[in-house]
Amino acid sequence: MSQITALSAAKGGVGVSQLTANLGAALSKLERRTLLVDAHFGARTLDLFTGLSTRVFYHAGDVLNGRASLEDALLPVDGFSGLYLLPAGLRKEDAENLADGLLPLCERSFDQILIDLPLQPLTWQKSLLARCSDIVLVTTPEQASVRRTDSLRTVLEAEGVRPQMIVNMIRPRLIKKGLLPDAWEATETLPMQVLARIPSRRAVLIAGERGELLAGSASDYGLATMNAARRLLGEEVPYAV
Ligand SMILES: Nc1ncnc2c1ncn2[C@@H]1O[C@H](COP(=O)(O)OP(=O)(O)OP(=O)(O)O)[C@@H](O)[C@H]1O
Ligand SMILES: [Mg+2]
Repeated sequence: MSQITALSAAKGGVGVSQLTANLGAALSKLERRTLLVDAHFGARTLDLFTGLSTRVFYHAGDVLNGRASLEDALLPVDGFSGLYLLPAGLRKEDAENLADGLLPLCERSFDQILIDLPLQPLTWQKSLLARCSDIVLVTTPEQASVRRTDSLRTVLEAEGVRPQMIVNMIRPRLIKKGLLPDAWEATETLPMQVLARIPSRRAVLIAGERGELLAGSASDYGLATMNAARRLLGEEVPYAV
């Protein structure tokens, strides 16, 4: 059986999609056969972050509607053996069948499935969440993001789901100058297990635009996503940041 992990956020633009791609790349480096599922039907971006945007021909919507097989729609990610992308379909309605129509097929061939999931109060997402082993909420350390993440945590916990979190886009220089509170303080009020604390870096933005994955590289982001992948697999990894 696959370990299925959904990544999402209470606020837009906090880095969920790029993290999904890099966490998947890190898992493949740990020799886990890994599938990235873009669940943003009608607004996909994982193909951009994996450098595959010009190669999408079939997508999850085609598989759900019988126009293509899962194998037809899967795209291998260059440079990462065992890492594949299933691009999101174009019609939002098709996402409703993701949990029951597609995930069982995907589970046959992958150790890890990472889902880039838009979290809205939609009923189809309940069945999808029920299939997930882990939910990871990405937040930035700003108070507005922290507060919304905490509200979302409460909603998920009422559904019986205990999310973990990744704190992204921490600004170490502004913290050092005393202009921003320490990211640890800002987020330690959130009662969630932390998978990674990741600084904001120009190199991450540039890699994202180029469709390059940093997992496993010697950069902060590369190391943090690698450690997050190890923690997801249950390893005890000490925190450097
Ligand atoms: N640690 C980081 N440092 C610098 N830039 C980052 C970092 N993480 C993400 N970004 C940049 O932030 C932007 C938004 O990232 P991304 O699209 O992954 O966010 P998202 O949460 O998936 O957004 P959406 O809500 O639109 O789905 C991208 O340009 C990405 O390269
Ligand atoms: Mg996104």
